[in-house]
Amino acid sequence: MSIPASMSDYRLLAKRKLPKKIFDYIDTGACDEITKQKNRDAFDSLNLRPLCLRDVSNSTSSTHLLGYELCSPFLIAPTAFHQLVDKQGEVSTAKAANTSGIPMVVSAMSNRSLEDIINLSGHNNLWLQTYIFKNRALTESLIHRAEKIGYKAIVVTVGVPISGKRERDIRNQFVLPKELSTGNFNSTVNSEVLYNFTAHELDSSLTWHDIEWLQTITPLPIILKGILNPLDADKACQLNIACIIVSNHGGRQLDTSEATISVLPDIVKTVAGQIPVLLDGGVQRGTDIFKAIALGADAVLVGRSILWALAVDGEKGVEAILTILKDEFEAVMKLTGCCTIQEIKQFGSSICSTGLK
Ligand code: FNR
Ligand code: LAC
Repeated sequence: MSIPASMSDYRLLAKRKLPKKIFDYIDTGACDEITKQKNRDAFDSLNLRPLCLRDVSNSTSSTHLLGYELCSPFLIAPTAFHQLVDKQGEVSTAKAANTSGIPMVVSAMSNRSLEDIINLSGHNNLWLQTYIFKNRALTESLIHRAEKIGYKAIVVTVGVPISGKRERDIRNQFVLPKELSTGNFNSTVNSEVLYNFTAHELDSSLTWHDIEWLQTITPLPIILKGILNPLDADKACQLNIACIIVSNHGGRQLDTSEATISVLPDIVKTVAGQIPVLLDGGVQRGTDIFKAIALGADAVLVGRSILWALAVDGEKGVEAILTILKDEFEAVMKLTGCCTIQEIKQFGSSICSTGLK
């Protein structure tokens, strides 16, 4: 393949380039990887019913989220350990995101520090994703660091009381390379136990009270990532959470949990416009973004594909893949007769149907 043209092309090239253990760590889902596959299948089973003759010569994919303008309705999802695939790690990813005008959610488990990522990329719309670790002081200090240096929101991942069972990692006896370190916890974590760090520090005793605690320690908007049940979406609205992300962690946690795009309509119905709803899991095409918006999402996030592009061509690869996704989405808007994100939402299920095959 001379020029990658799609997100799945990047996956193929990354598979050829990366050591098997590293490719598998990124690619794997939990157990039988049914949910990982479902995320894709559910998008593919949705059908579009385009409208014609609507003068789409001036269509735009720009939109607003939490008071910020997005050039297109997608963000980079938080993924750990970018130095597994690129020397500069998260700094390369953030530089590409900055050039492309795409917000990036930085994982607490980054190899580069929060400070390096923001200072060296110059990106002015970075969000921090963290867990509420057992060590609350560690959690709090991380959030305060992010606040101080200009991160715009705190994404708290809530679907992970324990780590999912990833069988490819077990079979491969995957451990992170010794030379990698955590950018954010150097003083407290030995790099040899890095891969286990999340496992050791994940707190399975968390409840909604801990989210209320979080709200008292930071003025930044708090976003909950990992909502899959409308009952939880309702709780989040009651607590005045800024935004939720419908996510099953890319199928890496509870296998056979529902595809995110399948549960989206029920969650959107419950939320009823009170707060923005985002979605991730299996987003690989402009049509996927379009379907998510038609079914009520405000924007989507992309996880693994960003890592594939980073592995294949570093910062330039990430820039290229972000351009591919934006171009695809804008073409889908024109081909469906939609000029704005608002129009996609208004046409809703009349333009994206679950009923026909
Ligand atoms: C993740 N994800 C993740 N999520 C999170 O909240 N914090 C994290 O540190 C990570 N780390 C991570 C590493 C790797 C290698 C993967 C593949 C995923 C989950 C991620 O944010 C997102 O929910 C999924 O990746 C979305 O699905 P797709 O786009 O990968 O299908
Ligand atoms: C993962 C963790 C780091 O999915 O969230 O690998």
